[in-house]
Amino acid sequence: MSWSLLLALCALLLLLLKLLCFLCVDGDLTLMWSEWLGRRPEQELTGLVVWVTGASSGIGEELAYQLSKLGVSLVLSARRVHELERVKKKCLGNGNLKEKDIFILPFDLANRSSHEVATKAVLQEFGRIDVLVNNAGKAHSSLIVDTKMDFFKELMELNYLGTVSLTKCVLPHMIERKQGKIVIVNSLVSSVPIPVASGYCASKHALQGFIHSLQIELIKHPGIIASNICPGLVHSNIRKNMLTEEVTKTVGHNTTQLRKMATSRCVWLMLVAMANNLKEVWIGEQPYLLVAYLWQYVPTLAWWIIHKFWEKRIDLFKSGVDVSKTKYK
Ligand SMILES: NC(=O)c1ccc[n+]([C@@H]2O[C@H](COP(=O)([O-])OP(=O)(O)OC[C@H]3O[C@@H](n4cnc5c(N)ncnc54)[C@H](OP(=O)(O)O)[C@@H]3O)[C@@H](O)[C@H]2O)c1
Repeated sequence: MSWSLLLALCALLLLLLKLLCFLCVDGDLTLMWSEWLGRRPEQELTGLVVWVTGASSGIGEELAYQLSKLGVSLVLSARRVHELERVKKKCLGNGNLKEKDIFILPFDLANRSSHEVATKAVLQEFGRIDVLVNNAGKAHSSLIVDTKMDFFKELMELNYLGTVSLTKCVLPHMIERKQGKIVIVNSLVSSVPIPVASGYCASKHALQGFIHSLQIELIKHPGIIASNICPGLVHSNIRKNMLTEEVTKTVGHNTTQLRKMATSRCVWLMLVAMANNLKEVWIGEQPYLLVAYLWQYVPTLAWWIIHKFWEKRIDLFKSGVDVSKTKYK
């Protein structure tokens, strides 16, 4: 066997090995590399003042627990005070934080007029904001033809404009201090299309455009990092709280046959991303992560897969069957 053939075989083997490795990971390759060899969240985040919105449930709640173990000063925001109190109590139970280290700051993200006051309240309490995690958000489950215009407006007001407004309140403070982290909990649907969630997808696409522009403007402020974190499906109450086409009615349950990632794993990877100042992060189990990569690099093939996957499900949705409960075939 000639040397060149042997080399070619080795390269092919390496490629196959890499592909095999990729099929086993649950984050993009930069994130996986950072988790393996990068800076540790316990070294980089301990002692910071971290403001988490949407901290009363799901990803935000788990962020509060993991951050409290790292010994940060926490600001917990959402609308439901009793749920925030419950999360605070559990954080204190971890033993790393004292009562004075956790500040409950309830507000409605869609009410933009409250954001300036809320920001001032955090600064008064802790004197600074090191990290803002824009996590609060809502999704929906309805076809475009059945979805009222008010509904699209509501989702943009909350997911997009609410996040932009809060970021704009906190940014001048970070610019003045020449440091800080702005995190947006976006979604893989900001790059990969899914049906029956057009308003949600659009709001996440809008966030993607916003944070990418912000990242470029921050070239002038190298101490401030903006991170676009895009999870796939994660265990939380997002499905239960999803709006239907009736706006006031929610789906009301979390059951789904689609594979979801454990909340704790997703949040851990988010912390790794923050510790390593990663600007773009994809988190998700296979096959969602693979589809995201294909959509980015081989869109024609990705479109074929997406088409096959959703074709039947859209018909089921139209006939009133909950698509999320149909098995992946
Ligand atoms: N779970 C997933 O599969 C997944 C995947 C990708 C991205 N995400 C994103 O992750 C983020 C967190 O969602 P989740 O999955 O953890 O869902 P979740 O369990 O439903 O939590 C949503 C949080 O947002 C808060 N919230 C909703 N409306 C609000 C408002 N008007 N003002 C202030 N807070 C509000 C809720 O608190 P209150 O009701 O108390 O206000 C709750 O704490 C969202 O941005 C979502 O788009 C989730």
